Amino acid sequence: MIHINDNFTKLRASYLFSEIARKVEAFRESHPSSRIIRMGIGDVTRPLCPAAIEGLRKGVDHEADESTFHGYGPEQGYLFLREKIAATDYEARGIEITPDEIFISDGAKSDTGNIGDILAADCRIAVTDPVYPVYVDTNVMAGRAGELQPDGRWSRIIYLPCTAANDFVPALPAERPDVIYLCYPNNPTGTTLTRSQLKQWVDYARANGSIIFFDSAYEAYVSSPDIPRSIYEIEGAKEVAIEFRSFSKTAGFTGIRCGYTVIPRRLCGLSSSGQEVSLHSLWLRRQSTKFNGASYITQRAAEALYTAAGKEQTAETIRFYMTNASILRSGLASAGLRAWGGTDAPYIWLKTPDGLSSWEFFDLLLNRCNVVGTPGVGFGPSGEGYFRLTAFGRRDDTQEAVERIASLRF
Ligand code: MLT
Repeated sequence: MIHINDNFTKLRASYLFSEIARKVEAFRESHPSSRIIRMGIGDVTRPLCPAAIEGLRKGVDHEADESTFHGYGPEQGYLFLREKIAATDYEARGIEITPDEIFISDGAKSDTGNIGDILAADCRIAVTDPVYPVYVDTNVMAGRAGELQPDGRWSRIIYLPCTAANDFVPALPAERPDVIYLCYPNNPTGTTLTRSQLKQWVDYARANGSIIFFDSAYEAYVSSPDIPRSIYEIEGAKEVAIEFRSFSKTAGFTGIRCGYTVIPRRLCGLSSSGQEVSLHSLWLRRQSTKFNGASYITQRAAEALYTAAGKEQTAETIRFYMTNASILRSGLASAGLRAWGGTDAPYIWLKTPDGLSSWEFFDLLLNRCNVVGTPGVGFGPSGEGYFRLTAFGRRDDTQEAVERIASLRF
């Protein structure tokens, strides 16, 4: 028999959200008359906006006609989309990113998970804790994480705890990581870093020869002026950061699948023989070998988000979810629960009451309120005693979930 990649056997048996889905399914089968409200996985509920639908239709029409048909697309994605991204998401905000530095993909999950392909096998990585599980699990798969310790930490990963005690602002690491994963606005805590806080990380990476993998999948939810939407708003970031973005949470593309990654031309790493190598070239080589691009139709839909109508409709959807977030925040506060996030992010992070563990609170909400959330400890050891709810639900469900939770009277 063949030998497998042993690193996979070190992982928890299933991915966090698959585990939750299994538990919820078991509950549903044993309580068929309960109406379950799902606020666990951050999946959106609003339909695609009319502009995106129009973009999809345009793509379909092109594919139906020999004269406009598209087969394999360009390796980095279609220029019509990369130009819109560069002009709107960067240039219009005073950031110089060229279309050639943008790689279109099927989403930030794939890119943040795959980017490790271009790293050395022994790179040390640092993650904020709690953290989006993809960053850790993919490094476990690659053999970079070391061994799982009894306290739930991996021996070679540098953890940057984010709890109420430090207001969810990670301290700079005591030992030097090669790679620092930052996700802001943060999943799962819904908290943010100000421009000056993020600058400390850019300065640290520059001073220490580290690279920052900056996941800004939730940037569209930022409304406070001192919160950056892109790491490239910080001077010098182009020498030390790769940025990942997604249309999933911005425009409801969780089912359509489209995102993009920015790798500035000047960003380099060192080969084992000490030569500087462009990370942009490595990623291009990786993507052109292992990936054939997001579909033409999908990219037409993403392009349509950059029309005036697309921008307005997208903004309207974000406002809708942020209203949910404020309903959750105020409902939880009046229920006596402490909560964070939900002002520049679609996630609410709450402290479990009465010393309950994250999973105990999960069971309590599922059994007594039929509401599904995500146990904080699923995102890392520092998430123990916390719990995540998403603002991506339907309005009536969000209101009802808050009422059901409040009825528990903590
Ligand atoms: C989450 O719930 O954390 C996200 O939906 C997961 C994802 O975006 O892949």
